[in-house]
Amino acid sequence: MDKLVITGKTPLKGDVIISGAKNAAVAILPATLLIDGVCTIDNLPNISDVKIFCDILKELGAKITWISENELTIDTRNISENNAPLDMTSKFRASYYLIGALLGRCKNVTVGMPGGCKLGARPIDQHIKGFEALGAKVDVGQGKITAKADKLVGNSVYLDIVSVGATINVMLCAVLAEGTTIIDNAKEPNIVDVANFLNTMGADIRGAGTDVIKINGVKKLHGNATYSVVPDQIEAGTFMLAAVASRGDVTIKNCITKHLEPITAKILEMGAYAEDLGGDTLRVWCDKTPNKVNIKTLPYPGFPTDLQPQMGVVLSTANGTSIINESIWESRFQYTEELNKMGAKITAQGKTAIFEGVESLSGAPVYATDLRAGAALIIAGIIADGKTEVYNLNHIDRGYENIEEKFRKLGANIQRVSEEVAKDE
Ligand code: EPZ
Repeated sequence: MDKLVITGKTPLKGDVIISGAKNAAVAILPATLLIDGVCTIDNLPNISDVKIFCDILKELGAKITWISENELTIDTRNISENNAPLDMTSKFRASYYLIGALLGRCKNVTVGMPGGCKLGARPIDQHIKGFEALGAKVDVGQGKITAKADKLVGNSVYLDIVSVGATINVMLCAVLAEGTTIIDNAKEPNIVDVANFLNTMGADIRGAGTDVIKINGVKKLHGNATYSVVPDQIEAGTFMLAAVASRGDVTIKNCITKHLEPITAKILEMGAYAEDLGGDTLRVWCDKTPNKVNIKTLPYPGFPTDLQPQMGVVLSTANGTSIINESIWESRFQYTEELNKMGAKITAQGKTAIFEGVESLSGAPVYATDLRAGAALIIAGIIADGKTEVYNLNHIDRGYENIEEKFRKLGANIQRVSEEVAKDE
């Protein structure tokens, strides 16, 4: 088992360049299945979720050519399969986008039940509700989902909860449907990015990023264009919070500062600093112990659940007692047990956790329980006294490109140690 070995206690200083957004990339890749042509995608993050998606697309008959580490072309003219390999799709959550995309293209699809981070119950009833509104018949059972339609016809889709995934999935299903689909739901940046990608390839989607998305079905997506994936809001937020947690001074490049406002607001409330330097660059710094703050995670533009664990590390050593309310996922406080092993004083119960700020954390062996928990534990290791070992790196590698290299460039003492080397120690 690989591990990250981190020796604290380092104030992070310097520049970091943010990669393309994981959660946009994992929707844009299946969206290419709607195209009858060749497209180029750049600013793709070099992460394992992207690699798995490319493997699935190849199994379906797509031709993928890598131009560089972060850019590829996809030729989807000869898609020969509409049944995505069950063992591959059940490895990660975003495989649910294959349902919307293949339903849109082939009107018939089977995929394995989506896997992904264990954050509590992760139903897809709202996705199904949307597909059904457009005329599909959906069956779930024996670890797979099958969706079929004679034809797809646009409709008004009312989802019962705010869902990023369901909004994108219904959008994918509606792009080639007859007539107009209206979705009144989430307005997160990754949804806007997927809509922009599809429009670049010939779709007619209006209003993404506002309360109401209107999709006028088109007969064909032509491809024949290049699209650059939006910068990762969550990766940028991870480095912003790492700067505050380590009492450092970090300049974050290639980020969309507007997307980061919910995080910037909390950083300022804690008494740390954030300055928009223009040109997609944000400087974040902290020269004293941050003040306590209370956080409630909410759909965009609220504070993102995907930065809740990283914020938890900041609050572990803040002045006073802070409270986090997690309103999106049931089980997103598993990381607090790991932080407590490092000397934090956190009491988590249900969807609430109370953080009693301590003076400092101390290094310990800890286990990433999911992707963002993993990022939080790296930050904890960087600010702790002594040596921290972070295990279960597969979670972290799913969503962060070159994470240890980026932290190392900021001054962190962090090494990836492979199983063989670890055994010899
Ligand atoms: C996306 O998940 C992200 N994943 C998650 O990021 C992120 O935490 C989440 O949005 C919220 O921002 C991807 O984009 C691949 P939702 P998604 O549908 O779309 C409930 C990370 O760390 N719900 O917006 O699956 C659901 O249980 C990951 O990068 C239903 O009840 O989330 C949750 O409570 C983790 N029925 C809430 O809605 C449904 O059909 C929001 O989920 C769908 C969702």
